[in-house]
Amino acid sequence: MATQISTGTAELRDIAKMERIGAHSHIRGLGLDDRLEPRANSQGMVGQAKARKAAGMALKLVTEKHISGRAMLFAGPPSTGKTAIALGMAQTLGPDVPFTMIAASEVFSLAMSKTEALTQAFRRSIGVRIKEETEIIEGEVVEIQIDRSLTGATKTGKLTIKTTDMETIYDLGTKMIDSLTKEKILAGDVISIDKASGKVSKLGRSFARSRDYDAMGADTKFVQCPDGEIQKRKEVVHTVSLHEIDVINSRTQGFLALFAGDTGEIKPELRNQINTKVAEWREEGKAEIIPGVLFIDEVHMLDIECFSFLNRALENDLAPLVIMASNRGMARIRGTNFRSPHGLPVDLLDRVLIVSTKPYEEDDIKQIIQIRCEEEDVVLTPEALSALTVMATQTTLRYALNLISCAQVLARKRKAEKVDVEDLRRGYVYFMDEKRSVQWLKEQQGSLMFEVIGDEAKDSMDVSA
Ligand SMILES: Nc1ncnc2c1ncn2[C@@H]1O[C@H](COP(=O)(O)OP(=O)(O)OP(=O)(O)O)[C@@H](O)[C@H]1O
Ligand SMILES: [Mg+2]
Repeated sequence: MATQISTGTAELRDIAKMERIGAHSHIRGLGLDDRLEPRANSQGMVGQAKARKAAGMALKLVTEKHISGRAMLFAGPPSTGKTAIALGMAQTLGPDVPFTMIAASEVFSLAMSKTEALTQAFRRSIGVRIKEETEIIEGEVVEIQIDRSLTGATKTGKLTIKTTDMETIYDLGTKMIDSLTKEKILAGDVISIDKASGKVSKLGRSFARSRDYDAMGADTKFVQCPDGEIQKRKEVVHTVSLHEIDVINSRTQGFLALFAGDTGEIKPELRNQINTKVAEWREEGKAEIIPGVLFIDEVHMLDIECFSFLNRALENDLAPLVIMASNRGMARIRGTNFRSPHGLPVDLLDRVLIVSTKPYEEDDIKQIIQIRCEEEDVVLTPEALSALTVMATQTTLRYALNLISCAQVLARKRKAEKVDVEDLRRGYVYFMDEKRSVQWLKEQQGSLMFEVIGDEAKDSMDVSA
C-alpha cells in the first residue's frame, strides 16, 4: 500500500492567485463591523443588511469554531446581490481558508461523473494546514569560489559562509552554482538556503559591508550577520487543500495536472488513504483541518442525483460550509417531474439555512451605481445619476450598471468628460432591456425562428437533459 503521501508544498507555494476583474470587482468584503453589524456602505457593499449579516455569522462559525457540514441558501430575485455577497465572503476569509466557487452547470460539462466533480469541489474547499520542519543554512557569504572545467560544461566550487560565531566551507555543485548566480549572490550578502529544495534567497547585505558603496544599489537592504549555528531547523506552516493532495498523489496525474486543470477522476482508494494519513497527521499534531467554503451558484441547475449526493456529503465530517444561490421560485427539480421551492428537493431544503435577498430601494441603487462609476472610472453628472437610478428601478439594476460603460463611450465620442443624461438616453435606445426585448418579440409575431415551444415539449426536453 502506498502510504507515502506527499503534499507537494514546495511546488505549490509559488502559485499566485489571480485577481478577478469584472461585474463584481468593486466588492472587497461584506462591509461588517466587529460586532457583525452591516455598515450602510462599506467595502463596496450597500444595503441587503440581513443577508450580509447572515453571511458574516456563517463565516464566523467556520473560521472560529471550525464547524463543518453546514449549508446555506441565498434565495432571491435576479440581481439582488447573491453572487456579490458570496464573493464578499470569499474576501473576508483569511488567505489560507479555501473558498471554491462553482456554477452548478459546470458539474455536467466536465469530463467526469457528476459526483466526482462535486467531490472534487468539496475537497478543494477543505484546507490542511501542515507544519513542517525544514533545515536551512543561513549566514553571511564570505567567499564564493568557482572552478570551471576546460570546456565550461561542469562547474565546481566552494562557498564559505559565516555567522558571528562560526565559519564553514561547503562544496558546490553545478545546480547550486547556477542558483547562486541567478540570485546574484556576492561576498557580503546574507543568504538562506533551503536544504531540501536547494532554493537560495537573499536576505540582504551585511551591515559590515555598508561602506563598500560600489556593490550596492539604491535599494540595498542591510541586515545583521546572523548569530549561532549556520545550519538551523525552521518550522514552516502552509496550507494545501485535500484536492491538491489527491491530485499530487494520483499516480496517473501528478502535480502538473493542477496547472492544466485536467485532473481526471481520482480513485476512491487513494482518497481513503489520504484521509487516513491526514487523520494520522492530525493526531501527531502535524496537521490541522481548515474547513473552507464551497459556493454553488445557480444551484437549481443541479439534478436530483447531485442533490442526494449533497445530502450525504454534508454529513461527512470533512465537509466545508456549503453556500448555494438560486433565483428560482417554485421550480421543477431537474431530473424529476416534481416542483419544489427554489428547484431544490425538500429534504435538502430541510438541511439548509435559507437567507432571502430582497430587491433594492432607490437609495441603495443610487449608491451601487456610484460605486460602480468609481470602479469603472466614469463620472456622471448629478442629473445623469438620478436618471440612471430611475432607469434601474424601471428596468433592472444590472441593465443600469451595464449602461454606465456604454454611456461613457458615447460621452467620449462627443468629447465630453462627464456622462450626461443625453448619453444615457442614447445608450437606452441602442440597447434594449429585457422588458423591451420581450415587447419587441411580441410585436414581431412569429417572424423569428423557433419561437413557439409548447409547455409539454419544454418539460420533456428538460427531463432528458
Ligand atoms: N449590496 C450590493 N452592494 C454593491 N453591489 C451590489 C450589491 N448587490 C449587487 N451588487 C452588484 O449588482 C450586480 C448584480 O448582482 P449579483 O450578480 O450579485 O446578483 P445575483 O443575485 O447573483 O443575481 P442572479 O440571480 O441573476 O445571479 C453585480 O454587479 C453586483 O456586484
Ligand atoms: Mg448570481
